[in-house]
Amino acid sequence: MNPAADADSIIERLAALRTADPPTHGGRVLSYVYDSGLSELDRVASEAVQQVLPVNGLDPTTFGSVAVLESELVGFVRDLLHGDAEVVGSATSGGTESCLLAVKTARDVWRQTHPEGRPRLVAPTTVHAAFQKAAAYFDLVLDLVPVAPDASVAAADVVARLTDDVALVVLSAPNYPFAALDPIADVAAATAASGIALHVDACIGGLVLPFWTDAAGGPLPAWDFRVPGVSSVSADLHKYGYAPKGASVVLQRGRDRQRHQFFATTRWPGYPVVNPTLLGSKSASPLAAAWAISRWLGADGFAELAASCARSTAALRAAIAGIDGLRVVGDPVGPLFAVATDESVPADRRVDPHHWADAVRGYGFVLQLQPGMQQEGGERLPATTHLTVTPVTEAVLDELTAALTAGADAVRGTPHVDGSALLAGLPPLDPAALDADTAWALLQGVGIGGGAELPDAQAPLIALIEALPAPIAERLLIELLGRLVEP
Ligand SMILES: Cc1ncc(COP(=O)(O)O)c(C=O)c1O
Repeated sequence: MNPAADADSIIERLAALRTADPPTHGGRVLSYVYDSGLSELDRVASEAVQQVLPVNGLDPTTFGSVAVLESELVGFVRDLLHGDAEVVGSATSGGTESCLLAVKTARDVWRQTHPEGRPRLVAPTTVHAAFQKAAAYFDLVLDLVPVAPDASVAAADVVARLTDDVALVVLSAPNYPFAALDPIADVAAATAASGIALHVDACIGGLVLPFWTDAAGGPLPAWDFRVPGVSSVSADLHKYGYAPKGASVVLQRGRDRQRHQFFATTRWPGYPVVNPTLLGSKSASPLAAAWAISRWLGADGFAELAASCARSTAALRAAIAGIDGLRVVGDPVGPLFAVATDESVPADRRVDPHHWADAVRGYGFVLQLQPGMQQEGGERLPATTHLTVTPVTEAVLDELTAALTAGADAVRGTPHVDGSALLAGLPPLDPAALDADTAWALLQGVGIGGGAELPDAQAPLIALIEALPAPIAERLLIELLGRLVEP
């Protein structure tokens, strides 16, 4: 034991560090955190975490509790997503792991009938970045289908790409950046006819869309296992399942298909290894918390929380519609949406979404800036600001609406940051030649990374990302994050 540090002072230091974080409760951060607003739910989750803290989730044959929790949690989500007994699943550490596993499974199934060649993954541009990561990790060709500026993708554009080398099509329910619900049934009809797998990424929607209606109060188009061609679905418990981070489920139609998700080996001198997911030893705490919450809330509890999200989302979308110079992008489905400049009004009345987000932050609400993006072979997607609405939003709705309005008033007419001007004076950059020190010097040259803190105004940082070629921007971001946690 370290005599210089007693337990209380260690925990006090941690508490002090946490006070510098944006508040994770109370509805002030409209991304990353999913607050039910129910203190009893937090207590149930926290006690569940404590119970299994020392358990190793690696081995449900040793820790039988893990097998029961996983089976019951997967069963709960399977019922919500209309899976029958043919649908099996695994608890994972989060959306990214669920998405990675869906791709790994599809690749290995495809390889059974295609011993040669590289499989392709087809998805709209708006598919979560986790699938770009999966294609990179598992060596699939990533084939992104451009979407319309309103973020909708035409089923025919996806179907047109279905050739024999396609191992997987991924659609979202809904996608993260704009909350568009992709045309799942239409694409599924084509994938099923050609024997191609279709994954529905419901990481964000999986625990809330089952309780969502369309604008007229009618049912949403079927997007889950009710659609016969859907092979797998990912749904995160650490989003609208209100669990602490580290909990998601990936469901697969068919035991034989799902077995390709696993890795097993007896070819080493240690214990026989069989892993359904990417990790080896793993915490059982998020699983236990997600399980406890699902039991405590039940489907009715989830429905009530979804109804609160729906009320707040409708109120906020109406508020945006009433703010001159801003507009909601497309036709979002679920408790999230993106806001862009309304180009239909004269320049002096337009509101740049990134300056707006920076201004709203000054009123105590953290929104998420999303860069504009030129799609390969398609139209440019606008710069936007993203809002994720949670049940606790309802408690701060008036204050938030006032902040959104005042923020817009403060920056109306201020044009988007000119990223290319920020780049002026930089030498031509080759990402392959950017070593860590050169990348760091470049960041400091544009005013980022001098101190430990990231700048308050994020509009210039995002403008830089928009202006730089993606490989350079990616290399600089890697440097920024790498330096942030260096001892
Ligand atoms: C649609 C979608 N898919 C995948 C992910 C990745 O999830 P995670 O951040 O839990 O890895 C997210 C996260 O927001 C998401 O919204």
